[in-house]
Amino acid sequence: MTTAHAPGKVILFGEHAVVYGRPAIAVPVTEVRASAVVTDAPSGQGIVMRATDLDLTHRLGTATPTEHPAYPLEATVRHTLNWLGIGASLDLILTVSSTVPMARGLGSGAALATAVVRALACHLGRELTPQQVSELVYQTEVIHHGTPSGIDNTVVAFEQPVCFVKGQPIEVLQVGQPFWLAIGDTGIASPTRVAVGDVRRGWQSEPERYEALFDRIGAIARQARRAVVGGEVGALGPLVDENQALLEALDVSSPELQQLIGAARKAGAMGAKLCGAGRGGNMIALVTPDNAEPVAAALRTAGAVQVIVTQVH
Ligand code: PMV
Repeated sequence: MTTAHAPGKVILFGEHAVVYGRPAIAVPVTEVRASAVVTDAPSGQGIVMRATDLDLTHRLGTATPTEHPAYPLEATVRHTLNWLGIGASLDLILTVSSTVPMARGLGSGAALATAVVRALACHLGRELTPQQVSELVYQTEVIHHGTPSGIDNTVVAFEQPVCFVKGQPIEVLQVGQPFWLAIGDTGIASPTRVAVGDVRRGWQSEPERYEALFDRIGAIARQARRAVVGGEVGALGPLVDENQALLEALDVSSPELQQLIGAARKAGAMGAKLCGAGRGGNMIALVTPDNAEPVAAALRTAGAVQVIVTQVH
């Protein structure tokens, strides 16, 4: 039996603009994670996949339509076996589960695929580098999201803070001084594909305005990168707020996100913004060890269905 895990993630700066080539910063969130367990099965059974949270059992090889809930999982297994140069005529049971909430900007799809790739490779006696895992998981991200930038698979597979620019080698960030985040969940599922598609339509109809917004978000991400590495935590708060204002200009915020962001700021957070695709999902607040608890309480009072306090280091 082989078990592997992978964390969730949040994007600190640069979501959406990252799809258009600007830099973004993301960090792993280890308080939530996906798990995959591979066991050998009786000969002739083939590969059986079980998703315990979804109450789903599926046998690899049955013609699976792309809209079937097991399709991304099946594709992940196929891509991994292809990559490893191993045919699909194996007898295995793959069981997956996850505490990363789905469609809430915490990288649930990337976490699950990463756990699956790791567990399969390890069970078959093969070692993959984080870069190889990331590239395999990217193929699953395409199924989930259409035109992903690649930031989710990168941060989850490397499990370290990263500065990501599409098409460039990844930069792992050495955090100069640890800092704290309170992550608040609106409880509203928001498929990344939809928000990304709306931003694309906006960009197509008003290219100059959108390019200017992406430039400003990219500039914030670059400043934030310097502050993270230089340990200037105090400089991050205003950058978080400026990034949020630009995300609002892209029309990816929502009343529920605004409610949580306002509550966090009022309770003393240094800055607060949505994270990920927006329209729902999660927001982050930059907090200190002293005000983390009051901010978390304020988020719950304002309607957050879950609050995670995590340290970035
Ligand atoms: O909501 P998430 O965690 O899937 O993040 C999406 C981030 C975007 O920048 C909006 C899209 C992307 O592919 O980078």
